[in-house]
Amino acid sequence: MLKQMKSLAGLLVLVMSFSLLAGCNNSTDGKAEGSSNTNKGKKIVVGFSQIGAESGWRTAETKSIKETLGNSPDFELKFSDAQQKQENQIKAIRNFIAQKVDVIALAPVVETGWESVLKKAKDAKIPVILLDRGIKVKDDSLYTSFIGSDFILEGENAAKELIKLVGSGKKANIVELQGTVGASAATDRKTGFANVLKDNPDFKIIKSQSGDFTRAKGKEVMEAFLKSDGKNIDAVYAHNDDMALGAIQAIEEYGLKPGEDIKIASIDGVKDAFEAAAQGKTNIIVECNPLLGPQLAQAVKDLKAGKEIPRWIKTDESLFVGKDAAEQALPSRKY
Ligand code: AHR
Repeated sequence: MLKQMKSLAGLLVLVMSFSLLAGCNNSTDGKAEGSSNTNKGKKIVVGFSQIGAESGWRTAETKSIKETLGNSPDFELKFSDAQQKQENQIKAIRNFIAQKVDVIALAPVVETGWESVLKKAKDAKIPVILLDRGIKVKDDSLYTSFIGSDFILEGENAAKELIKLVGSGKKANIVELQGTVGASAATDRKTGFANVLKDNPDFKIIKSQSGDFTRAKGKEVMEAFLKSDGKNIDAVYAHNDDMALGAIQAIEEYGLKPGEDIKIASIDGVKDAFEAAAQGKTNIIVECNPLLGPQLAQAVKDLKAGKEIPRWIKTDESLFVGKDAAEQALPSRKY
């Protein structure tokens, strides 16, 4: 009897170690966090490769996706933070493929270099949905849909509002804080702004450099611009709010008044930017909505239900100019 009990206990230990090992293999290679409450077979497994946490906007996007998909009984979310590196995103996608997730969501740090890994996802019959940033691929069938904003339009709106604010017929020297080099958000916002400036030659970009979408680099680059062109700068165009907030600090430390001596236009709409605008320290906020969780969840559900989903799922966005608009909007800002 004792012998039988011992071998039963041995068997139990074996079974338990096996299920533990299987569980480990299901979480993505130590890099990604999987949701603990899994009910395989019923939940739709989504692997999300996020760029990192470079800005308030990015943090809000991550939160929206974790809250929507991570807390839902319909989904199991596998989340991977690439810390700004494309190679980490490629590794994460390979892991998602190995784990046979149902759908891959990708916020691509840069536009190029995705062909090979996305071909692997396609061969494995795993649909890929792009989030917020676009990619350049020869074969459009490598991704199913793109959920996000029109970055060119954002750049155009920023330029139009800046021209209105300064006054058309007047002249302005503008410095540009670009986003991450090679990112669609940077390339398109630059293009959109330049499109409008073409017809307004008195508004000139006199300096343009990447601040990598971060507050710290935005400040650093603005300091350099002020050092070389100080009194000559009339306006800042920042590809995101975080860089504009860094520029505000640099301008103040330089002894000028941001929003008055130097006008500022930026894109995103994070709370910190609204607070600065309410104090008159920045002037134009072009909203870019990061709360993409609900749209992603719907797209994935539709896809799994066999429905055709739009190639481009656009987000609702607004524009805020001046102190009063910022003050009014502040209480209801969600990010
Ligand atoms: O891709 C969207 C951009 O990326 C946001 O404007 C910026 O804040 C983020 O880092």
